[in-house]
Amino acid sequence: MQAIKIHGGVPLEGTIPISGSKNAALPLMTLSLLTNDRFILSNVPELADINTMKCLLEQHGASIHRLDNGNSYELKVEGLLSSEAPYDLVRKMRASVLVLGPLLAKYGQAKVSLPGGCAIGTRPIDFHLKALESLGAEINLKSGYVEAKVPKHMGRLKGGHIVFPSITVGGTENAMMAASLANGKTIIENAAREPEILDLANCLNLMGAKISGAGSSIITIEGVEGLNGINYKVLPDRIETGTYAIAAAITRGCLKLTNTDPNLLEAVIIALEASGVNIEVGEDFINIDTSKKIRGVDIQTEPYPGFPTDMQAQWMALMATADGAAMLTETIFENRFMHVPELVRFGANINVHGKSAIIRGSEDLSGAPVMATDLRASVSLVLLGLATHGTTVINRVYHLDRGYEKLEKKLESCGASIERINIK
Ligand code: EPU
Repeated sequence: MQAIKIHGGVPLEGTIPISGSKNAALPLMTLSLLTNDRFILSNVPELADINTMKCLLEQHGASIHRLDNGNSYELKVEGLLSSEAPYDLVRKMRASVLVLGPLLAKYGQAKVSLPGGCAIGTRPIDFHLKALESLGAEINLKSGYVEAKVPKHMGRLKGGHIVFPSITVGGTENAMMAASLANGKTIIENAAREPEILDLANCLNLMGAKISGAGSSIITIEGVEGLNGINYKVLPDRIETGTYAIAAAITRGCLKLTNTDPNLLEAVIIALEASGVNIEVGEDFINIDTSKKIRGVDIQTEPYPGFPTDMQAQWMALMATADGAAMLTETIFENRFMHVPELVRFGANINVHGKSAIIRGSEDLSGAPVMATDLRASVSLVLLGLATHGTTVINRVYHLDRGYEKLEKKLESCGASIERINIK
């Protein structure tokens, strides 16, 4: 098994180029199921989750080629080989359920394994299924699978009115993709406003879809009969950007993050500035300079444009090193504090009360052997490992490989002492 070993306490200095967004690239890849044309995606990060999506699409019948061994992929689905998303792939990656909408819309049928719970919560897909039913799909749950089909007499999905009971990113994406090829007009209310939704809508519109309002809470979609292939560049990863911004702050260093879009992470920038970090933003870069002490700053996770749940664990690591206390409240997932006992192993002073945690900053932290439970939890351990003196060994590196492209290389180039090791 592999682990990551860090000798911490070195302020990071240098430039880190930001990769394409994992959470934008995954739904964008499933758009290949909506067209028979060649579809080219660039700025796709090299990650385990992207590979899982590639395997899933290939078993549906896609031929996928990486262009010039780089970050661009050509995807083409000439005909459906199988409408099934098997348990083995869905269990590896919940975003696999994003094939449901496209398969139903284009091929009239889909059989997708129920994802089950995961480390950060139960994460049901009931809102996805209700949304697809509003578009006329017939849905049955059988032997751990969602079996969905468009009734024969309908021919294809029909436009409908979807009101999400609470905000769901994946649910909004599935509904938007399905409605793009439906007959008639669909209105989605209480839609997610995440930048990844807007990216998906922009791509769909270039393919010939008629979507308006994406990025707001009401999205309107006029269904079209077919979609064409295009060339599309995935937007920068706002969570990777925020994670490296915190890497600069937590090591009291100075980093320039390039190939990114500062507009995508306003809430994180506001929190960092409130904590005493100097930030300069340009059109596609962010400079982070941490000469001052870091103050404790309270945050609460919220759907976009609020503070992202995917930055909560990283913020907690930073607050563990701050001057003073901070309260952190998680409102999106019911079980996203699994990193707390591991952060405590570094000496962090954290108390959890229901959905909130109180973090009392301390200077008395030191490296430790730790274990991660999910992607963002793992990276919070890397961050605290970089900040604290001594050696940190993080087990279960595969979580990091799901979401951070070339993590060690990027950090090493800025002075971090970090390496991947094999352990028994
Ligand atoms: N929910 C339901 N029913 C549903 C769908 C969602 O109850 O049918 C609940 C979830 O259990 C959760 C909340 O609604 O409590 C929000 O879930 P959402 O559907 O918005 O999350 P998701 O689409 O499954 C995406 C990201 C996550 C990110 C969340 C929230 C991708 C591939 N994943 O998940 O990213 O945390 O939105 O912003 O886009 C990560 O990258 O580490 C990650 C977990």
